[in-house]
Amino acid sequence: MIRVSNTFCLERKEGIRMSDHMPDDLSAAGRDLRAYTDELRPRHGVVRNVQGEWVLLRHELVVQAALAHELFSSAVSSHLHVPNGIDSAEHTAYREALDRFLTPAALAPFHDEFRRVAADLVASLPRGVAVDAVSQVGVRFAVRAQSAWLGWPADLEDRLVGWVAENHAATRSGDRSWTRQVAESFDDLIRSVLEPRRSAAREDGTDDVTARLMRTEVSGRPLTDAEIVSVLRNWTGGDLGSIAQCIGVLVHYLATHPAVQDRLRSGVPDAEIDAIVDEILRIDDPFVSNRRVTTCPVTIGGVELPQGARVKLNWTSANRDEAVFGDPDVMDPEHNAGRNLVYGIGKHACPGRWLATLEMRIAIQELLAATSSIALDPQQPAERAGSPVGGWASVAVVLA
Ligand code: HEM
Repeated sequence: MIRVSNTFCLERKEGIRMSDHMPDDLSAAGRDLRAYTDELRPRHGVVRNVQGEWVLLRHELVVQAALAHELFSSAVSSHLHVPNGIDSAEHTAYREALDRFLTPAALAPFHDEFRRVAADLVASLPRGVAVDAVSQVGVRFAVRAQSAWLGWPADLEDRLVGWVAENHAATRSGDRSWTRQVAESFDDLIRSVLEPRRSAAREDGTDDVTARLMRTEVSGRPLTDAEIVSVLRNWTGGDLGSIAQCIGVLVHYLATHPAVQDRLRSGVPDAEIDAIVDEILRIDDPFVSNRRVTTCPVTIGGVELPQGARVKLNWTSANRDEAVFGDPDVMDPEHNAGRNLVYGIGKHACPGRWLATLEMRIAIQELLAATSSIALDPQQPAERAGSPVGGWASVAVVLA
């Protein structure tokens, strides 16, 4: 038996009672999943959901599992996921080849384009009537900004928007064959982008992010077609949804916390906006969890897991752990930044952090610059997203 750390063994081994199982359709009725994990977490660091997965709820346990990557493998799927589903030195080689696309310096040339995308979108939104911050702001902005970054044609927008919606619906349904079909339809969409540019990328030296990715080498050999499609799926497919959900959370927070909205309207430095955005997302992290599988028997949080156990690192719950943050709803960016887990921790920590931070900062700045107030629509209450998606399904706001 390997133990992640001796401190785990000091904890009493907690039995997992049936009542502590986490149903996965919890928020189908619009319930906020955070309230449920807030209730469970003080009593149980580890619970089991109806799929038989072990869900880590406490900050300490999520961090320990994320850092113990030899014991908690990311190779959870039989499909190729570059770099998400890969471990060890092979994973490091992919990250070295791919992270260079996502550094602040690599993203600097896109600032103006992202600002133009955000300003045009905000200018097109109606004033004085309800606008949905998720579908009309978050999804549209995420799709347009990502297309601008990757050099993809603007006429793909509606297909990508449709894909984000279907992906959410499939994820919520828990129907694996539907989820697989949706992933395959995304791969077809990506192939339709790559095919016509294949000769251009290799022969005329076209120089945008997609073309450069097509010329990228890992461990001294070019990426295969399957790897390129997988990287693009992970860069866009998963993250269009995350940025859109995050924008929904941010707009809801600003609409319900006028003092924070006023503070941001007063023209604070970029670093302060970024810190406030990270802290709002810590309080309501819509990127709920990632999966792992144990490579040998492990004891974590006093619970013995066999080899091959399926584990979920619940970032949303860990980011609200009262043992670390006190009252999880109190906004304290400076104090909480060092333990914020919105972008994960360890070898698999999010390489897209700077891109996400930049896009969200620009979206919020442009939204505030073009309005004098953002308020919730009293006629249409905001609706929580259904598990396992976090954040809000819709946030009707009125812009003035
Ligand atoms: C606000 C938006 C985002 C959030 C909250 C977020 C969050 C996360 C988290 C928590 C992880 C850790 C996964 C794990 O440990 O298994 C992760 C990984 C990852 N993220 Fe993000 N992410 C966001 C945006 C992005 C963007 C814009 C990109 C790329 C364009 C991106 C690409 C990735 C990739 C490729 C991984 C896997 C890294 C690996 O396994 O080594 N993310 N993200």
